[in-house]
Amino acid sequence: MKRRRNGGSKHILMLKGKHIVLGISGGIAAYKSVFLLRLLVKEGAEVQVVITPNGKEFITPVTLSALSQHPVVCDFFTANTGEWHSHVSLGLWADLMVIAPATASTMAKMVTGVADNMLVTTYLSAKEHVMVAPAMDLDMWAHPSTQRNIEQLRRDGVEIVMPGSGELASGLSGKGRMAEPEEIVSRIKEYFSRSCDMEGMKVLITAGPTCERIDPVRYIGNYSSGKMGFAIAEECASRGAEVTLVAGPVSLSTVNPSIHRVDVESAVEMCEAARKAFANADVAVFAAAVADYRPAETAESKIKRENADEMTIRMVRNPDIAALCGKMKRAGQTTVGFALETDNERINAAHKLEKKNLDMVVMNSLRDKGAGFRTDTNKITIFAREGSVTEFPLKSKSEVARDIVDAMLRFRGNVDAECER
Ligand code: CTP
Repeated sequence: MKRRRNGGSKHILMLKGKHIVLGISGGIAAYKSVFLLRLLVKEGAEVQVVITPNGKEFITPVTLSALSQHPVVCDFFTANTGEWHSHVSLGLWADLMVIAPATASTMAKMVTGVADNMLVTTYLSAKEHVMVAPAMDLDMWAHPSTQRNIEQLRRDGVEIVMPGSGELASGLSGKGRMAEPEEIVSRIKEYFSRSCDMEGMKVLITAGPTCERIDPVRYIGNYSSGKMGFAIAEECASRGAEVTLVAGPVSLSTVNPSIHRVDVESAVEMCEAARKAFANADVAVFAAAVADYRPAETAESKIKRENADEMTIRMVRNPDIAALCGKMKRAGQTTVGFALETDNERINAAHKLEKKNLDMVVMNSLRDKGAGFRTDTNKITIFAREGSVTEFPLKSKSEVARDIVDAMLRFRGNVDAECER
């Protein structure tokens, strides 16, 4: 039998040199983590395992340290030597932290910041991307508290590798099986390939509603929460872009510290900030729900009722930010608009593409359940300038953000851009 010599393989080690912290919490799916670890090491990754005390009941640290070639971290201290294990340096060392399996209890601790073991403490110190692969029984998975925690983790920027359905360790059958190690590895590879595909790009995003003042205590606004625009900002920043986020009044905070946020109140203020950032932008995404009109006058003092049965507020037109930027657009700049419609969705979306000189329109319909304002999900159809129409299923807003950015990069032909990380 012929032996293949080292280096003779055509297989490219996608994860070569990547530092991955593999967190293992206490569930029966921990046995699958051994295969996951083996696959990661075979792909060239350097893996440091952090295990919870319950995790050790399911899988022995000897197996894990033999495969990873690093001592497994579980306790804050080594009892006989008094050596302290630094979660901070582990968090800084990692290019990625993967928690598989993530039990309901570990996810609840991650959400609330209960740092009573090395795994959660390392999570709180992790500077880079975090991915979790939940595993539990079907009733625990379906429980509202678990679902709430999953949503919160998503909002905190954590990527969820969803569990599958099938036979569970309890003997029951349903959703809760940890994703297979091969699927987790492919998600890890996807993460590393997209984590640099916007490096060097400048992105402008408008998000949220605008508030148009009537007097010092009243305004005209709308139901936009800003969640979609903020999710796009996080997605672009995590892929290496320099992001300017011009946000109307929202109660959201950004997770990625590199996002440059400019808070504004009215459409006129948003327009000024957006036009400034657009001059240097490669890409602009207009996700804000901008008020089309504003009161012609803003009263200096509170308007009194004075027994009138009716009142009229004269309104004047606001600037159309997307259209103005569309006029300023130069070669190499890509603009993406949104169209939230209730009727004649496709015709209206295609019309906005033309009218605002956009390259893509992301259309969502208020007729679709789970789409539009004040939800954590969205269902979109993307219309591109060259005529393509792509429909997507209902997804979480962070997944929708990824689809939009992927489509936008495909449009720019940048998806295969060479980059080094
Ligand atoms: N937009 C904008 N400035 C405005 C109005 C809209 O930048 N003054 C942008 C939105 O951010 C969105 C797109 O234009 O990306 C479409 O917004 P929409 O409110 O759906 O469209 P309008 O042009 O206002 O048309 P209509 O209200 O008639 O649907």
